[in-house]
Amino acid sequence: MINALRGMKDITFEESQRYLYFTQNCARIAENYGFSYIATPILEETALFKRSVGESSDIVGKEMYQFTDKGGNDVSLRPEGTAGIVRSFIQNKFDKAGGVKRFYYYGPMFRYERPQKGRLRQFHQFGVESFGANGAREDATVILMLSEILSFFGIKTVLKLNSLGCPKCMPSYRAKLVKFLDGQEGLCEDCERRKSLNPIRVLDCKNEHCHTLLKDAPLLIDELCSECKSEFSELRAVLTDFNINYEIDPKLVRGLDYYSKTAFEFVSDEIGAQSSVAGGGRYDRLVEFLGGKSTPAVGFAIGIERLLELIKMPAPKKEGVYIGVLDERFYDFALKIAVELRRSVKVFAEYDAKNPAKILKNADKADAKWCIFIGEDEQKTKKIRLKNLEEKTDSEIDLTSLGEFQW
Ligand code: HAM
Repeated sequence: MINALRGMKDITFEESQRYLYFTQNCARIAENYGFSYIATPILEETALFKRSVGESSDIVGKEMYQFTDKGGNDVSLRPEGTAGIVRSFIQNKFDKAGGVKRFYYYGPMFRYERPQKGRLRQFHQFGVESFGANGAREDATVILMLSEILSFFGIKTVLKLNSLGCPKCMPSYRAKLVKFLDGQEGLCEDCERRKSLNPIRVLDCKNEHCHTLLKDAPLLIDELCSECKSEFSELRAVLTDFNINYEIDPKLVRGLDYYSKTAFEFVSDEIGAQSSVAGGGRYDRLVEFLGGKSTPAVGFAIGIERLLELIKMPAPKKEGVYIGVLDERFYDFALKIAVELRRSVKVFAEYDAKNPAKILKNADKADAKWCIFIGEDEQKTKKIRLKNLEEKTDSEIDLTSLGEFQW
């Protein structure tokens, strides 16, 4: 017996309905915001993730599914979607074309983490990336979209917001933080490593001792340059205008290195220890850093598995036709009818002869609105017995009129 790998699971039965309901409605909302669908490969050159997500991140440092392919290339399964989309944006010369381009995507991501509730090694994200639009209004727009998605599914969250500054204010802040960190004894091993690679990542260390040491650490939000400060207050004003509640979290630094300015996370206490439902922010330097023409960008990704349990689905509605066959001699006849009907309506057909009571039971289980019975009489008379399972009424219909019937 071969099982799925640890931390990887099938999405089946009722959960698969939730998955489809979730992604289809996210896609609908994203389309309303002017975003279009993009799909990029799941496998990319490892260098792409090293340069974008960053070598100091846990994702690249510890969690990548990285291997050498048969051609000797160093490749990795994507741990997130942004890097591949930026690569595609540059490769397809959208950076040179100018203007604003907005994309949405969904699919599997891979991180070799320790699995627990809400934390998988293969998980799915729905995300959006907007390129070419600067300023607080675009940040606010993606946050409004994310907030609309979460409230559509009835998911209660808290928005945490921070600004990670820009090349004008970040270097002097970083120097100040490193000086502070140099004065602290007993930082954990991870923090010692982060201190030299990307010191601000120390701020969100989960180790309790580090937490205590960092109580009086300098915060970037107090050191923002005038441009970052005014963009951040503009963003806050737009969010307030639209009644989006938020909390400023000056220690929110995100686990990926490409962010600057706006960073945000939606957290929920309904999903266990893994409280982050979605996260995102601005990454104005990444396109240029990966070899493209400097282009501002902002986006977010939602962790789908973390939400599936919380999604309130609408009550299933009865639809489609269930074809029940009364005797195996009429399977071919039933198949012909099924093929014809499928041009206009959803059809459930079973080639497994049953009595009428059993057929009705199965039709009910399939949530079909109609049930038809195929047997000797139907084939002879070319008249089909039809039951409306919603209104509990019976009728008869000519075989030739099946195609035009208002199902
Ligand atoms: P992230 O915060 O690393 O951001 O991931 C986004 C969401 O993916 C998380 O909030 C969480 O819900 C989900 N997630 C992460 N790891 C796991 C896991 N192991 N198991 C289950 N769910 C998980 C990004 O990935 C960025 N690319 C977001 C972004 C887009 N920023 C700008 N554009």
